Amino acid sequence: MNSPVRHYNLTPHTTFGLPCKAAYYTELHDEGSLNAICSLPEFDRNTVLWLGGGSNIVFAGDYHGLVVRLATKGIKLMAEDGDHVWVEAQAGEVWHDFVQYTLAQGWSGLENLSLIPGTVGASPVQNIGAYGVEVKDWIESVRCFDLDTMQFVVLGHDDCGFAYRDSLFKQAGKGRFVITAVRFRLNKHFSANTVYGDVAKILQQQGGEITAQAVADAVCRIRRSKLPDPKILGNVGSFYKNPIVDAAVAERLLRDYPNMPHYPQTGGKVKLAAGWLIDQCSLKGHRIGGAAVHDKQALVLVNCGHAVAADVRALSDFVCSQVLQRFGVALDCEPSWLPENV
Ligand code: EPU
Repeated sequence: MNSPVRHYNLTPHTTFGLPCKAAYYTELHDEGSLNAICSLPEFDRNTVLWLGGGSNIVFAGDYHGLVVRLATKGIKLMAEDGDHVWVEAQAGEVWHDFVQYTLAQGWSGLENLSLIPGTVGASPVQNIGAYGVEVKDWIESVRCFDLDTMQFVVLGHDDCGFAYRDSLFKQAGKGRFVITAVRFRLNKHFSANTVYGDVAKILQQQGGEITAQAVADAVCRIRRSKLPDPKILGNVGSFYKNPIVDAAVAERLLRDYPNMPHYPQTGGKVKLAAGWLIDQCSLKGHRIGGAAVHDKQALVLVNCGHAVAADVRALSDFVCSQVLQRFGVALDCEPSWLPENV
């Protein structure tokens, strides 16, 4: 194992593109090297950062610990029956490329999750979701390196504590499990999920047979029309989670804003659309320094070119205060700010 690189520029490994250096940086290309990484003098379990595609992280400053980019590759068909395939992808596979690969094999399930930035290994952490589908719906198990026991362990779907943009890996398992591969159970026979109105509308416009690839194409079209391409305009996708509030709060708001988008959840709670709340405060395009609220989707903050962390922090604080003042609803950031508690 080579020594980690010192003072490494992390900016190109993040989609927001804020200035950031890692004190030490190395890459994992083979899960068998994990023990060696944990034996490095620079390794400290409490400060190590396991980095995927850097699409859900906002760096508030330089990172003073060791950063390990999970770069393992490989996709393998593990088993199949008449209806399903079980396929395992290594953590460092690029998510969208993996989705495309499964579609090319004729396996369906992940098409609604096309074009989400990031890696396969990061997908269970925040249980990525879009257009009526969450990745948990297709995950069979997650292979991890357990830093408590220094052994590999396979966590079944039910062990992973999946919820809306949440999982064990963000809660009790944070800092303990390094995800090295994810196993999916996908369908051999396609059945379309078009619960999300825009997908059905675009499919109708596209015409032709509704295949998994056609759904993926429709999703890509919607995403490209609303969401900025991180290669052009730095961003981390949704900057806030959609708030889940008590029914009484939603009812109060609906009296004043009858057209407010709202999605009843199990257990009597109601999910609101953070993008709509921000948009109603007329914040689309609002800019502080080099950071701005995206002009097509208010849930996304963008780097206009030379943003620094303080711009993003000031903008985010302003957005949250405006929404709180107007609607009495607190927004929760979706990406992790690192280092924490700054
Ligand atoms: N809306 C506005 N103005 C805006 C943005 C949204 O009025 O600027 C309204 C829309 O018209 C719609 C509602 O808010 O009535 C919801 O908007 P949209 O369907 O665009 O989805 P979202 O709730 O803003 C969520 C996910 C996205 C995912 C889309 C599509 C979260 C935090 N975000 O956004 O995920 O692509 O649904 O399923 O749940 C991501 O996590 O990075 C992400 C992009």
